[in-house]
Amino acid sequence: MLSAADNALITQTNPGTPMGELFRRFWLPVVHPDELPEPDCPPIRIRVLGEDLVAFRDTNGQVGIMEAFCPHRRAPLFYGRNEECGLRCVYHGWKFDAAGNCIDMPNEPAESDFSSKVKLQAYPTREWGGVIWVYMGPAEHMPADPPAMEWGLVAPSQRRVVKNFQECNYLQALEGDIDTAHVSYLHQSFRPDPRNGGVVRDVGRVDKAPKLMVLHHDAGFAYGGRRNVREGGYYWRVTQFLWPTYAFIPAFSWPKTCTYTVPVDDHHCFRFSFAYTIEGDLPTDARSWIAPGEGLGPWSRHYGQHWFEDGLCIDTWLLEQNKRNHYFLDRQRQRTESFTGIEGIPTQDRAMTEGMGFICDRTRERLGTTDVAVIAARRGLIDMARALEKSVEPYSATHAEAYRLRALDVVTPDGELGPVLERYRDEVSVPVQVN
Ligand code: FES
Ligand SMILES: [Fe+2]
Repeated sequence: MLSAADNALITQTNPGTPMGELFRRFWLPVVHPDELPEPDCPPIRIRVLGEDLVAFRDTNGQVGIMEAFCPHRRAPLFYGRNEECGLRCVYHGWKFDAAGNCIDMPNEPAESDFSSKVKLQAYPTREWGGVIWVYMGPAEHMPADPPAMEWGLVAPSQRRVVKNFQECNYLQALEGDIDTAHVSYLHQSFRPDPRNGGVVRDVGRVDKAPKLMVLHHDAGFAYGGRRNVREGGYYWRVTQFLWPTYAFIPAFSWPKTCTYTVPVDDHHCFRFSFAYTIEGDLPTDARSWIAPGEGLGPWSRHYGQHWFEDGLCIDTWLLEQNKRNHYFLDRQRQRTESFTGIEGIPTQDRAMTEGMGFICDRTRERLGTTDVAVIAARRGLIDMARALEKSVEPYSATHAEAYRLRALDVVTPDGELGPVLERYRDEVSVPVQVN
């Protein structure tokens, strides 16, 4: 459990909060390139770390991410005209470039230099690894590069990125990613897995009380779930959890996956799912390599708007399976096909994490022996946020190369995590040349 004060500290990311400041030290993926598909395309509204922003791609292809409201009279720039290397407010015509400079002020006298005094809060952006990144922290602490994660290093044809919107605090979503014990229950399917010769792969299901171990490293920590296997030895699922919110999920074959969560505000988050391979191109039809009911999914979503209670709104992908329809829960299939009766691994996760409410009351939990990774992640985030309050910068934010790590899924005689990582050293680290 957490104290009420710690639960507030770790879940609140608005400007000026300790955790908000910690997130603002990292490059953060926030926009999918499909949201801004071409130069001068329509702008979109996003909210990140409690800040309402507008994102647009200018005539040169440069992405600008800046405050959502015009500094003149606070009109919404979403309605603006994206034209000739700038976004023009349609209320009185002020125009801003991707760096937030006011480059035209047609309603002021020509001799006025007022425009040079007006600047919109704009954040640096990068487009790399199949996502658009933003840095929202102080300029003097801006990391030179986004983290060198393997999904960013492979060719575009070898990865697939999905972005979705989720209606709960970011921490709930990411805690589901680093809770290996739940796969034996929540994601249990009673159907055969086509990737495994049509056999239900039950190696991880033999032992439903895994022993969990955590090893910290420069970019976060590895945590292994060790399960006894019928034939002897151990089945290990080793997840890499990397600051602030990346989880590389173990898989026994390529493609592999990574999840990432960024706070929208304290009650909502964006979730990114990365699937990538180093073995040729990713099949274009993801269904061909993901078993029914499993995998990256969910498959039914649309691009639309989410309206917040404060009257503002964002543009993002919304999921058809959601809490209002109980994620299409089918009680009959729950008896015969899967543990939950809900289709899709991420949807099963969402039913649990959104179902806790916007912010889980962690003062009332009773954590057990399988929750060590959740505890380690909370401790690490809280410690880094507190350290930053004392001007100790987070190491990993400025060490992109520390992120060249992989998850692991093996059966091995080793019973301790250290020896497992040593034995499979070449498989858990990303080589200099990826392909
Ligand atoms: S409010 Fe934007 S130009 Fe007046
Ligand atoms: Fe899960």
